[in-house]
Formats: sequence, C-alpha cells, structure tokens
Amino acid sequence: MPGSKLSVVVTRRLPEAVETRLKELFDVELNDKDIPFSPEQLVAAMQRADVLVPTLNDNIDARVLAQAGERLRLIANYGSGFDHIDVQTARQRGILVSNTPGVLTDDTADMTLALILTVMRRFKEGSNLMQSGDWTGWSPSALLGSRLGGKRLGILGMGRIGSAVAQRARPFGMQIHYHNRKRVHPDTEAALEATYWESLDQMLSRVDILSINCPHTPSTFHLLNARRLKLLKPTAFVVNTSRGEVIDENAFTRMLRAGDLAGAGLDVFEKGHEINPRLRGLDNVMLLPHMGSATEEGRLEMGEKVIINIKTFADGHRPPDQVVPAML
Ligand code: DGY
Repeated sequence: MPGSKLSVVVTRRLPEAVETRLKELFDVELNDKDIPFSPEQLVAAMQRADVLVPTLNDNIDARVLAQAGERLRLIANYGSGFDHIDVQTARQRGILVSNTPGVLTDDTADMTLALILTVMRRFKEGSNLMQSGDWTGWSPSALLGSRLGGKRLGILGMGRIGSAVAQRARPFGMQIHYHNRKRVHPDTEAALEATYWESLDQMLSRVDILSINCPHTPSTFHLLNARRLKLLKPTAFVVNTSRGEVIDENAFTRMLRAGDLAGAGLDVFEKGHEINPRLRGLDNVMLLPHMGSATEEGRLEMGEKVIINIKTFADGHRPPDQVVPAML
C-alpha cells in the first residue's frame, strides 16, 4: 500500500480545508451536495473504497459490513462516538475502525454547562417572553430559577467529557458526584472534590442535576430506564449531550410532562433526529439539534484527526485513534 494513493469515500461535506487536504493526499470522493447516503449508497461506497469516512448518520451494522468490498480496510469515522459502527464485526472482517477523540471534549463540555444554566435559570422561557413582545418589565417574582452554587451535579460517565464538565462546574460552586465503570484516579477526584458512587441508583436519588456523559454501548442502552428515572428527585434536572439511547425517551417524556422532573436540556435523542413529538412545547425543556461539537475549530480538528488516521494507515501503521471492541 505505501506509495499508491488510497481510494477514500467521504459520506458528508467536511470543512473546506479538510477536504482540500484529503484531495491532496488521497484519491478522494467527496459528497458535494451533502445529502446523507441511503443504505444502498453506503454499501456501494463500501464496495469501491479502500477507506470510508462516515459520520454518526451512517449506520454501519453487521448486515452492511457483510456487503463491504474486499478492498475496504479502514473506516475512519469523522466523530468521536462510534456506536453506529459494529466494531466487532468490522474487526472479524479485517477492517480497522478509527475515531476522533479528544478534540471535541471542551466544546461539548462548554455546551453541557450552557444547558445546565439554561434549564436551571429558565433562559428559554425568558427568551420566549422577549420574543413574544409580552414582557412588561422587571418583576420580583417572575421567572425564578435555581441557583447553581451549592447544588449537587451527578455526572454519569467520568471520561474526558465528564471530567471537563466537572472542571467547569466547580467554579460555579457545584458539588461533583459521579458514577463511572471505574473510579477515577485519586488525584483527579481530589482536584475536583468529587464523590464517587459505585451505585448509580444511590447517586440518582441524591443529585440536583444529572449530566449524561457516558457513551452508548450495549451496557448503557436505557441505563436510565423508567425505574431509575423515578429515583431522581422531582426537583432534579437532566442534561444529555452524549447519546439519546442512554435514556428511555418515552418514559422520560412522560415524567417531564407529568411534572415529575424539573426540566431537561437535550442535545441528543434516542432515535436520532426523530424526536418524541411530546418533548416539544415544554417550557422547561431545551432541545438542541446535536450541536455539542459544532464549532469551526472543533470540526477542523476532527478532520485533521481523520487525515492523520488515514495517513498513518496508508504508511503501513496502526491509526493512532484505532477503536477496538474492548472499548465497548
Ligand atoms: C461525536 O463525535 O460523536 C459527536 O456526537 C458529534 O458531535
């Protein structure tokens, strides 16, 4: 492979600088119209490419992988989450998978804090009032929210993004609690003054805000099911900037509508862009269109990571951000 130009198919438009560099380095097919690939187009791309650059919109399951061409050797995902790729099956077929970790940590953590502030301080209702033209002036009792300082923030998943959320929440005076598969290093815990909960159930009943920061894997699917959601206090807020599948969206929606939770800030949904319509129209629920990593800088750095992964592979080495099934 060294010396020959790899054939690379990219399924969505990427930042211009990234596309330009890809064109310089590889024999690349871009998606100028930026229309997501149909399942048939995806399979066809996987039959003609050496390397596929998909996004979270491309569902690369075992059925799709079974139809991949012999030449497909690398799936260099443009994104950090890889729950849309059957990594195990890809490995069995000798196809490597890489992702873009690290470069979207700060942007996602910033947005998590923004959502916490938005729902606790009722910014959406305030903005709606201003847009409606009905505001009649300052009032001592209008739109009273909850103070962040002194509140218990429960972080579900203390990886890169969870830790970055904790670092940002500390200066607001929030108390950090977390549940994670593994307890973090004592130095990290001490720096964040964080309390570890081995039992998620026990943590849920004690926090004022829950931030979902764990990946979606077979063991985190519906981790927040109806039973666990009911452990949260009725005054608690939930913020999710990770993956929608971690929460049972129907049970969650029912609780929000019934007033069994104080509010929610959601950037991700269980069925991608097909959100439960009953989530709309709730004053205490802020919905965003999966934009946690949506900064110019972040998207450029994600592209740079994709290029490094492909180039390293083309040079005969393992991509630095190779994903392995053990990470699931
Ligand atoms: C990712 O990279 O997985 C993010 O969800 C995209 O914002």
